[in-house]
Amino acid sequence: MLDKIEKILISEEQLQQRIRELGAELTRDYADKNPIIVGVLKGVVIFYADMVKQIKVPCEMAFMTLRSYNGTESTGQIQVVQDVTADIKGRHVLILEDIFDTGKSLDFTYRHLMEREPASIKICTLLDKPSRRRPEITLQADYTGFTIDDLFVIGYGLDYDEYYRNLPFVGILKPEEYNSKE
Ligand code: IMP
Ligand code: MG
Repeated sequence: MLDKIEKILISEEQLQQRIRELGAELTRDYADKNPIIVGVLKGVVIFYADMVKQIKVPCEMAFMTLRSYNGTESTGQIQVVQDVTADIKGRHVLILEDIFDTGKSLDFTYRHLMEREPASIKICTLLDKPSRRRPEITLQADYTGFTIDDLFVIGYGLDYDEYYRNLPFVGILKPEEYNSKE
């Protein structure tokens, strides 16, 4: 698998270091708030597992699955495949996301959860690609791991056609791999 990687953008060590820093911030900000931490599957799964270990307050875990992407391009359609089952009314919700790209998924998730009247919703994204944001999206992340350029990245939960999620770093594929997966 490593022979398909053009470049490591964010190493395992850099990821873990930044997650510890975010964890210290979130631990302070969520003291006594008993947050529900919502992960948007599947991309967030690796970040989620590492991130929650650094949020040292009592919290609940919850997950949502959205379907929105084919390959590298958004279809523009977002569907809830699996919803948060917990009652979030009056609760402090922290959304964890892998990447804030066009912003359509996070905007959808935010509105979807807002309808259920939580006390607050904040967003923590591992990666942000602000140059890709759609102009109509005004939502911003409250906590960001790394801001990156307009590159299609894989690894640490992020996929290209469902592959490469299990890489421990964030990287980019060799150009030829973006067309032929095998
Ligand atoms: P959105 O465009 O902000 O709605 O992002 C939707 C989803 O697209 C993210 O949650 C990711 O699953 C996926 N995505 C966006 N950019 C990348 C990328 O660079 N690599 C892999 N997946 C991406
Ligand atoms: Mg995702």
